[in-house]
Amino acid sequence: MNEKLIVVVGAAGKLGQLIVRALASKPDVRVRALVREPRKPEVASLAGPKVELAAFDAVAASEAERALAVRGAFAVVSALQGGPDIIIDAQLALLRAAKAAGARRFIPSDYSYDFFALPAGVNLNSDWRRTLGEQARREVTASFEVVHVLQGIFADKDVLGFLGAFDPDKGVARYWGDGMTPIDWTTWEDTARFTAAAALDERAVPEKLFVSGDRMDLLTMARTWEAARGRKVTLERLGSLEDLEAETKRRLAAEPQNMFAWLPLMYAHAVFGGRALLGPTQNARYPDIQAEAVKDAIGRGAI
Ligand SMILES: NC(=O)c1ccc[n+]([C@@H]2O[C@H](COP(=O)([O-])OP(=O)(O)OC[C@H]3O[C@@H](n4cnc5c(N)ncnc54)[C@H](OP(=O)(O)O)[C@@H]3O)[C@@H](O)[C@H]2O)c1
Repeated sequence: MNEKLIVVVGAAGKLGQLIVRALASKPDVRVRALVREPRKPEVASLAGPKVELAAFDAVAASEAERALAVRGAFAVVSALQGGPDIIIDAQLALLRAAKAAGARRFIPSDYSYDFFALPAGVNLNSDWRRTLGEQARREVTASFEVVHVLQGIFADKDVLGFLGAFDPDKGVARYWGDGMTPIDWTTWEDTARFTAAAALDERAVPEKLFVSGDRMDLLTMARTWEAARGRKVTLERLGSLEDLEAETKRRLAAEPQNMFAWLPLMYAHAVFGGRALLGPTQNARYPDIQAEAVKDAIGRGAI
């Protein structure tokens, strides 16, 4: 087998590092990890026999720098985070550079529930990703794919904390609606493994790669946590989905510049509203990956 070069942009981030490590664990792979500050100790430690670090700013890069950054890539994977200048503009420029360099595919930084199914306006961050997806689709050819890795939410206490949905220290689960809307869950690590497998795939990969560790509503997650930990979870209903929408609008109007005031509610709406569930999952494409269920993620303390 020929060695494949995979370029990872946003490689210093939480998911980016996991993707780099998942790729480097595979045979016949080299990784070019694009980072803003290669000399930072926690970033420098990513380098290894199969991983080279390259300094790259996705916003400031010139066309020539982008072309150099993706040169020789079999696939370009993004794990960037940021506003529309990054999620739409910088990723589109990188995607076009990847295509021009003859890469087989580009994987944008999505790693989400199916935001294509979500109406515009529910979550601004999801809107940017959908816009990118719509523009990216126009770049697809017989030899160049764009693959959206869609896996639900990360089975992780920090993500649940961001959503305001679970506080394991206090033993409190909070939900909007009836708490029984199914939620798709996948761990950070499994998402990185699926992304690495999709990047390296010799076969055609679907535009939306649905993968998942579990599907479970929040009340069931809370009962599963109680059983695993032997601790009682207090359930707090925060209101209806209509209340959630009204509260989101109120906060957005009051503090438009402070995204931490309203962005978690936008994500909560997408998660508790049940409109962005994954389509049929395609885990079976990658039988080496046994995606972890919520019960097991709880068991090892991820939640
Ligand atoms: N489904 C879920 O539950 C869930 C939860 C969390 C995240 N996610 C998704 O996962 C993806 C990655 O998130 P994350 O938490 O891993 O992000 P993160 O830790 O914030 O990492 C983002 C990376 O992007 C890099 N970056 C930002 N601007 C850049 C620029 N102009 N040029 C080059 N690099 C730049 C940052 O570089 P520096 O290190 O230099 O700052 C950072 O390393 C995102 O799409 C996010 O929405 C999904």
